Amino acid sequence: MSDSLTAPVPPVEPVLPLDDIQGIAVPGFLKPHQTLIGGRLRDHEAVLAFRTLLLGMSDEISTGRVTLHDRRAYREQNPAPQVAAEAASSVMHAGPKPGRRRGRKAKGAAKANTPSMIADGAPEAPVVLMAIGFTFDGLLKLTPGAAAIPSVAFRQGLAARAAMLGDAGPGDPTKWKVGGLTTPALDFLIVLASTDRGPIKQREKQLLKDLKTCGVEIVYREEGDVRTDHPGHEHFGFDDGISQPGIRGRASSDGDDFITPRHLAPDLFPQAHLFGYPGQDLVWPGELVLGHANTSPDPLVPGPADPVTPQWLHNGSYLVFRRLRQDVSLFWRTMEDAARRMKQREGFEHLTADRLASLIVGRWPSGAPVNRVPNEDDEALGRDKLANNHFRFDSDAAALPLKGGYKDVYPMSVADPAGAVCPWSAHIRKVNTRDSASDTGGRDSTYKRRLLRVGIPFGAPLKPRDAPPAKDPLKGNRGLLFLSIQASIEEQFEFLVTRWMGDPSRPKSPAGHDIFVGQNDAPGEDRMRSCVIFGKGFEQISLETNAQWIVPTGGAYLLVPSITAIRRVLSGG
Ligand code: HEM
Repeated sequence: MSDSLTAPVPPVEPVLPLDDIQGIAVPGFLKPHQTLIGGRLRDHEAVLAFRTLLLGMSDEISTGRVTLHDRRAYREQNPAPQVAAEAASSVMHAGPKPGRRRGRKAKGAAKANTPSMIADGAPEAPVVLMAIGFTFDGLLKLTPGAAAIPSVAFRQGLAARAAMLGDAGPGDPTKWKVGGLTTPALDFLIVLASTDRGPIKQREKQLLKDLKTCGVEIVYREEGDVRTDHPGHEHFGFDDGISQPGIRGRASSDGDDFITPRHLAPDLFPQAHLFGYPGQDLVWPGELVLGHANTSPDPLVPGPADPVTPQWLHNGSYLVFRRLRQDVSLFWRTMEDAARRMKQREGFEHLTADRLASLIVGRWPSGAPVNRVPNEDDEALGRDKLANNHFRFDSDAAALPLKGGYKDVYPMSVADPAGAVCPWSAHIRKVNTRDSASDTGGRDSTYKRRLLRVGIPFGAPLKPRDAPPAKDPLKGNRGLLFLSIQASIEEQFEFLVTRWMGDPSRPKSPAGHDIFVGQNDAPGEDRMRSCVIFGKGFEQISLETNAQWIVPTGGAYLLVPSITAIRRVLSGG
């Protein structure tokens, strides 16, 4: 007879081939400084020389194992009062908060990518993490076998899909700085990431020399850095990188060696095996890496892996790069104007620009979810990584029992199925429906759409946030180097942009567009976007604007191949 008091049996999670998967994909780079370098293989000679260089570089590309080691070392060196600090090192699209590095400073910055040994026998993580991704055109130059890749989005490339994504007017790909219709073709993108800028510069110097010797044309180079004035916050001022999917899987056959740390107490909470941090869904690795088990309708049971064609794509991932310019001044001017007009209406008397902006994000600037604190920001909640991602949309949430006895003391979210508290158009609700059903199915439908955000802001922050454009030294050249990892560009990135962010009636009505980030596919340059905001009761206003405060200015669809594919298929190995 089985004992009904025993804890639920956890799912058996696979040991992932972390020596073969690039670290930018699993667990994702976690560094406050990055440099992106884009190259074009000019001619046949350049291709041959580059293949040889790539073979040498393959030892330096950061594997999942090296990157995980680096992540764990960071956590050890930056202990926080409570385990919550661990989450501060989760990857994000505005980059991590730079850590106060303690203890030993890593040595050998210039050739840092070859792990050396440290006292405990574990390989010391490199100072500079490196990743490489290829466009379809780039892959075809290196191997004719790339012609068998079935993804239509990848084959066509980002610029060809731009109209479908809603890029028009100032965001038209004829105006892009990189990867556009009038810029030189991009064959590959290298990402260098580090805790300090110095080591990146040193590594980059040698790399650029090597690439030029091969006859590679450098068509793009850009630095991304976390904001020094507001670490972890994107340029409009909101904390970013809070909610990321956790990947299921272990780094070794040791039972507890999970890639994504687990914080819930399974003996006290039957659903503990669904989450890493509270609110952090665990997805099966096939959602992020090709050739692995997918998430099935029952999140505890792995679904079959999708077939991988050609076979060498196994352990690779797709990387979406989107250079998104943010017009900080326009954003806040629009929020101020709209709030001033809206507060004339009954039910909206207390609306401020900050509150309105927080409603269209779904979180307050500190990161505190509006579902937990609907009336005002709560900085302590925003900072608290064990609480700031724990909330539900469709039903009431309760405090979860955590390992170590942590107590979540903040107000709990209450059921908000209509979007009266957090509008259905809010950015975070458009891209992750959490416990809500959607136009594509039940609660599980969101799992298939998750992506890992590993981007970082570019350009110095604008201070004050509403400075007139004439006083902006960068003339608006700031924004987000959006980078996302997924197993399917069509089913994850493009689905989110076109079907949920850009469609006013999905995932659920009344919603409107994701007015915070989304473009839309209405024809014409001066097109309106709208979203429904509720007042104190159920009063509704449809907020409309044609202001484009986020303008796509470049990007690419890339494949981040496995180390084996780089060595055996793409390089001279
Ligand atoms: C400049 C453009 C963007 C800005 C400023 C921005 C900002 C934010 C902020 C402030 C959050 C909430 C904090 C967090 O949970 O990390 C967030 C969450 C998120 N964003 Fe964006 N974002 C941008 C573009 C995009 C794009 C293009 C996509 C995907 C197509 C995207 C996907 C997501 C996802 C998946 C989340 C997590 C939602 C959740 O799980 O709750 N973002 N973003």
